[in-house]
Parts: sequence; C-alpha cells; structure tokens
Amino acid sequence: MTEFSNSCFKKYTDLIYAETGISINPNKKQLLQMKLNKAMNKINMKSYDEYFELVTKNKKDIDFQQFVNHITTNTTHFFREINHFEFIKNNINFILENNPRIMNKKEIRVWSAGCSTGQEPITLSIVLGQCFNDRINVKILATDIDTKVLKKAVSGMYFESDYESIPKEYNKYFKKINNGYKIKEDIYKKIVYRHFNLMDDFNFKKGFDMIFCRNVMIYFNNTVQETLINKFYNNIVPGGVLFIGHSESLINKKHNFKSLGPSMYIK
Ligand SMILES: C[S@@+](CC[C@H](N)C(=O)[O-])C[C@H]1O[C@@H](n2cnc3c(N)ncnc32)[C@H](O)[C@@H]1O
Repeated sequence: MTEFSNSCFKKYTDLIYAETGISINPNKKQLLQMKLNKAMNKINMKSYDEYFELVTKNKKDIDFQQFVNHITTNTTHFFREINHFEFIKNNINFILENNPRIMNKKEIRVWSAGCSTGQEPITLSIVLGQCFNDRINVKILATDIDTKVLKKAVSGMYFESDYESIPKEYNKYFKKINNGYKIKEDIYKKIVYRHFNLMDDFNFKKGFDMIFCRNVMIYFNNTVQETLINKFYNNIVPGGVLFIGHSESLINKKHNFKSLGPSMYIK
C-alpha cells in the first residue's frame, strides 16, 4: 500500500462526513486505514489516492457503495438494550393513551433507522406482536445505508452466535436450518427492509408511531445529530416515541421532544 498521509486521511474523512454524516476523529486514523485496506484488497488496489478517485467518480456506482459498506460499524444483537423493549411491554396502555392513532387505525408504524443486520426490527416485531396479538397491524420499516448488512437482514438467516443472545423464551420464533437459524414467517412479514441514508430528505407520506434510532448517532457530530433529531420529530405522530441508544443523549441539542426517561422521548 502507498502511504496514508494526513492530507489523504482528511480527504477521506471529508468525503465520509459529506456523504454519510459520520465523523471520524484523527485518533481513528489507523482504524480508517484498516477499513480502507480491506476494501482495497478486495479489488487489488494499492494506492489510497487511486481508490479515492475510483469511489468518487460516480457515487451511484457499486464501488462507492462498497466503500460505504466498509466504513460503517454494524455491531448489533437481538434484544440489545432490553429495557426499551420492557418499557414497551410494561407501558403499552400509556403508549396507546398518548397516541390514539394506533387504536383508531388498528396499525402501528415503526421505523428502525440504522437497522444493521436486522436484529433490532426482529426484536421489535416479536415484542409488538406479543403486545398486540392480531388486534393491531404491526408495520416495521427497517433501513440502513449499508447494503451488505441489509442483504443479511433480508435473508432472515442468523448464525449460532447471533442466536445465543436471544432470551430462551423467544427461541420459538426461530427455526433451525442446517447450521443457522431462520426467523419465522409471521415475525419476518411485519418488516420491510430498504436502503436509506439518514442524511437524505425524509419524504414519508405518513408519520411513525415509534422511531428506533439506536447506536447510530454516536458516529455523528452534534450538528448532524440535532438536524436528524428534528427530522425525526417532524416524521413522528403526536404521542409517538423516539428511542435512542443508551450511550446517546439529546442534551445540548435544540428539540421539542419530552423525556420519558433515559434514551426515550415522546412528541
Ligand atoms: C452500530 S449499528 C446499530 C444497529 C442497531 N440500531 C442497534 O442498536 O443494534 C449502526 C448502523 O447505522 C448505520 N448507519 C450509519 N450511518 C448511516 C446513515 N447516514 N444512514 C443510515 N444508516 C446509517 C450503519 O450502517 C450501521 O448498520
């Protein structure tokens, strides 16, 4: 590989910030270099400058998307930050009282924004399915900027290591196939997966009753986070709830949400 100079690092971090909202600090230079090496090795490329030219040539090209796929961090697991799901189960009446749309329309519209490989929307589908049985139509939109993770999510197939994080009482929602586990159809069919960049305009026809955007904003700076939170606010119905990651917070951002407790907010 050629030298990964500071100016080259800056060129890449500016591009990543402009296209994805992700901020990369100078102390993460080595990490970014490792990610780039992985992407470049795949196509036998040795020069960081040449690779930069390739990915910026046409942002609609597969090379650009593969670059983005290598940059993102996709850590997730089933029932991650479980208290959000417990909150929903224990406060379903509170949720319905504050948001009469759900009972009126007999549907709940949920967005898992930054869904990675699908464990978050699947957990939501299981929990909301249990809360409502068939009384309410559960509709989950699950989106991510990374097409590689979406491919795994769409497959509905998980490894033994993914399956291990599922509390035993939920094992019944999966079936063993060869050496993996597949999510059962009645859970899977409530979810629609789409490729979507949170930096883009939101053109949703209807508002969401719940938005989960967890462990995504940690990669964004304060300005990008504030813009995003206000976009969420404008796309959530009155009484709708926003869930963010446990290590994230709306402190120091201008917004109109009311706090429901740590990492949970209501419009
Ligand atoms: C650490 S994972 C979080 C997954 C899940 N929400 C959770 O909490 O377990 C963060 C995800 O956000 C996605 N992401 C990062 N920037 C994004 C953007 N601008 N638009 C959409 N998704 C983005 C990444 O691709 C990654 O899959």
